[in-house]
Amino acid sequence: MSATAAPQLELRSVTKRFGGVAAVDGVTFEVREGEIVGIIGPNGAGKTTLLNCISGIHRLDGGDIRWRGDSISGMPPHRIARLGIGRTFQIVRPFGSMTVRENAAVGALFGSADARRRPREAFELADHVLELVGLEAKARHPVSALTIPDRKRLEVARAVATRPRLLLLDEVMAGLNNVEIDAALEMVETVHATGVTVLLIEHVMRVIVGVCRRAIVLDFGQVLAEGEPESVLRDERVIQAYLGERYAKRRRTDPGRDGP
Ligand SMILES: Nc1ncnc2c1ncn2[C@@H]1O[C@H](COP(=O)(O)OP(=O)(O)O)[C@@H](O)[C@H]1O
Ligand SMILES: [Mg+2]
Repeated sequence: MSATAAPQLELRSVTKRFGGVAAVDGVTFEVREGEIVGIIGPNGAGKTTLLNCISGIHRLDGGDIRWRGDSISGMPPHRIARLGIGRTFQIVRPFGSMTVRENAAVGALFGSADARRRPREAFELADHVLELVGLEAKARHPVSALTIPDRKRLEVARAVATRPRLLLLDEVMAGLNNVEIDAALEMVETVHATGVTVLLIEHVMRVIVGVCRRAIVLDFGQVLAEGEPESVLRDERVIQAYLGERYAKRRRTDPGRDGP
């Protein structure tokens, strides 16, 4: 990987409106192969909508999205997935009546071009990804028996089983406690270490600081700040947008205090 290589993913002035409201409003940034980039921002900032634009669920109202130099704007989701862009959903929706292993195998069966394979191979790949996310011991459990953190692991496993080159994660750590977040961070790092670029949406700041080298802050559909997580999170505008004016005030009077 060289510093001059074309970005893997490029967003140029990406805009998506619902009715008259721009949920994503002229967003421009790029992601290079091998990066872990975090997107943060308050509820309603447009994070999930942005991810839906990248994975082809929404048609753009403006701008362009490029994958390895070629425009993918207007492509249907299954074609974008086949190019190697995998994703999780904020609302976890596994196939409840199936086992954990069967769910992971679904990802392997319907993944990117080189991930689609015969059932037996799909199950081998499923076993591999379940090990990767730490779910191997529960492979034969019904999905309905899984705890919330394990369902999120499974969601990541399903996405990883599609063999993406870029993995889009939508708040996979929301609602987890600190111990569970640590385990989930480790999981993301493990997946990243297999050569997968990660674009991660999170509401939890600790996650962004923990694994991302670069963070992009969205507010009202626009990029409010971008840079190293530590410096971005010290940005007064970000603190105000993300945590509200009350927390910003508290920080000014008590700068030693930890974030939530
Ligand atoms: N399918 C949709 N139809 C109409 N409005 C939507 C739709 N999806 C998202 N929105 C609106 O777009 C804005 C951004 O939402 P979203 O992308 O879910 O934010 P975030 O993920 O940052 O919390 C919100 O105001 C939300 O109500
Ligand atoms: Mg969201």
